[in-house]
Order: sequence, then structure tokens, then C-alpha cells
Amino acid sequence: MNAAAPAAVTLEPHVMATYARLPLALSHGRGCWVWDTEGRKYLDALGGIAVNTLGHAHGRLVPALQDQVARLIHTSNYYHVPLQEQLASKLCELSGLAKVFFCSTGLEANEAAIKIARKFGHDKGVERPEIIVCEKAFHGRSLATLSATGNPKIQAGFGPLVEGFVRVPLNDAGALADAGRTHPNVTALFLEVIQGEGGINPATIDYLRAARRICDENDWLLMLDEVQCGMGRTGKWFAHQWAGIRPDVMPLAKGLGSGVPVGAVVCGPRAADVLGPGNHGTTFGGNPLAMRAGVETIRIMEEDGLLDNAAIVGAALRAGLAQALAGEAGVVEIRGQGLMLGVELARPCGDLVKRAAAAGLLISVTAEQVIRLVPPLILSADEAAQIVAILAPLVRTFLNEPRP
Ligand SMILES: Cc1ncc(COP(=O)(O)O)c(C=O)c1O
Repeated sequence: MNAAAPAAVTLEPHVMATYARLPLALSHGRGCWVWDTEGRKYLDALGGIAVNTLGHAHGRLVPALQDQVARLIHTSNYYHVPLQEQLASKLCELSGLAKVFFCSTGLEANEAAIKIARKFGHDKGVERPEIIVCEKAFHGRSLATLSATGNPKIQAGFGPLVEGFVRVPLNDAGALADAGRTHPNVTALFLEVIQGEGGINPATIDYLRAARRICDENDWLLMLDEVQCGMGRTGKWFAHQWAGIRPDVMPLAKGLGSGVPVGAVVCGPRAADVLGPGNHGTTFGGNPLAMRAGVETIRIMEEDGLLDNAAIVGAALRAGLAQALAGEAGVVEIRGQGLMLGVELARPCGDLVKRAAAAGLLISVTAEQVIRLVPPLILSADEAAQIVAILAPLVRTFLNEPRP
């Protein structure tokens, strides 16, 4: 545990203040641990917000990336990039889908998905295609993706929003069918299998199966945003695989490159050829360094059995939290799957992020009152126990303080 609360680091007068940052700067890491510039050590239960799949300074990823940097970082998409085919074929093998478009971030992957849904509509004569999205969804912060996002705070100040989104509650198949009846121009349903920023809200297996059926009945694309919940985090390669369904479009990013920016839109046969030459592109998308990061991340995940690790250690972490917080009335629910867990409290708890850092643990709070744990998938059972040992007493103390 860190003895003192983190000291203020140098202010950043030239960096735009778009983030409310903790007053600490991290200098290096190893495995699930990071150190700040003052030498304090933290257990990283946030993993760069579900990004650092292999933790920090992984012994096999680092030399692979060094090798790639020394060969070729970037070329442009004017030429073939063999590593793109290597990563794309692996993603298709793991998902059962057909073709991949590469980009660099989650919002870019979702932006491409939205364009696919619209073009899919135009190609079949729908002039003003609409996409069904969910309440509490988060799909990114570009204009189209923030319009698809179901959080008025994120949208405030950026109107006019992009039109063409129809919003329904998550896990309500009846509302989905109704939306289809009242909106004849719908061409796709777009949702996160587990909502991340919205508070770790899983779509149920029944709902996912109903969604697949309703999409098939209506000739809609089923587009599953697995930017946060995908890439092994839940214990399967992709979270929707727990429901035994396949999407038509699956945006990925975050954990795919274990920290190197890489996004992908993985498409099944109905969507794979919707975009053609000149329809979409991005300078950095699919560059050799990003592709190598994806290829090596997946290779190491397979070699080290990280899907099983996420499932087993995730279950232990969840059980440990449930036991340590048992009987605490202010804990509403502990939910999620694998190493994507949320602890919902009965009141806003943003302050816990600072308190946890002071106690040597990195976490985040999302949707105001949900503690989010998305650590690297290499987390050990012992490290999971350490998360519980630090976090549970902080939560108990917090909940038993008089309200400000
Ligand atoms: C489900 C989901 N989609 C999209 C995004 C946006 O990704 P990015 O921040 O890489 O643009 C996020 C980021 O948190 C996300 O959780």
C-alpha cells in the first residue's frame, strides 16, 4: 500500500483539459503492476481501460514489437500489408466471420460499422436508413458514434446530432420488435454485448438470441460492439459466443493490440462486401506495427491459455468481492463476466478512484456508481485476492461514512 496520497504532478498548461486526471503519472510497468514517477507501486485493475490484455512490458510481446519497429512501422494502404491478412484470417477463424476492415480505435471501428449499416440500406433501396441502438450505450465520441451513444451528458453541447438512430432499452426483445414495426427504414441493430461505460450491463443470452432472430426476420444487420468486452475478456474470444450466435458486424479495438492502437471491423458474409474501393479508409489503419501487435497478442493469449485464465480468475475475483462485501447494504450488485466486472453501489462513488490509487490500486468508476474492474487477462489468482483485499475495505468505509 502506498504510504501517502499521490502528490500533484506538474501541471500541463499545453494539453487540452479534456480529462479529469488523477494527480499522478505512471513511468513503467511489469505484468499487472505499474509504478509512478514518485516510485509508488500500483496493482493495475483497470488495464488502460480494458486495453492492456498482456499487462505491461510482456516478455514475449516486447521483443516482437521491437523486431517489427526495426523492420517497418508504417507503409500506407497503397500497398499490400501481409500482416493484415495474417491478423484478419486469425480474427475470422476465431469468430467464424468472413472479412475485416482495420482502423486504429474503437470509435473508428464503430464509425465504419455505422457506414456499413447505411450502405447496406442504400444498396437495397432504403433512402434514409436507421439503426436501432440502446439506452446507456457507449459507442465513442465522434459525431456519429456519440449520436449512437445513449448518454445525454456525452452528447450535450455537440448538437445537431447525427440523425438515423432509434433508441430502445437493453434486454427488451418486445421493444426491439416494436421498433421494427414503427420504423420501416431500420437496417441494423447495434449494441454492446456487455455495456462498459454504461455501467457493466450485460445483454442476456435470451436477448442476444432474440436479437439475432429479429434481425434475420427483418433483414437487419446484427452489429455487436465488442470494443470493450471482446478479445477474451469474458473467457471466450468474443462475448456474444456465450449465446451461441454470430453477428454480421463486430467492431473491435482496445485489447486487440495489447496497448498498440488497433481497431477492426469483423464482418460476416452479409456485410463483408458492402464497402468497396473508395468507400472507406484511414491512413494508419492496418499498419504493420499495429498488425504485428494484434497477431502477437492473439498468439500469446493462445499459448498461455488466457481465455481460461480470464474465466477462472474472473470468477475468483467476483466470488472474493461477493464474500468480502457480503451484508453491505450499499452494494447493489456485482455483475459482469470473466475479467469485466462491475460493483454497483447505491450512491455515486467517483471518489473511490482516488482513494484506491492512494491505497495502491488502479480502478475506474463508470455510470457514476459502478466500480469497474477490467485488469489485464494475465491477472493471477493471488493478484485477484489482492484487489479484493484493497478494494473491499475501501468500499465498506466509503459506504459507512455520512453522506456529504
Ligand atoms: C463499447 C465501446 N465502444 C467504443 C468505444 C470507443 O473506443 P475508443 O475510445 O477507442 O474510440 C469504447 C470506449 O470506451 C467502448 O467501450
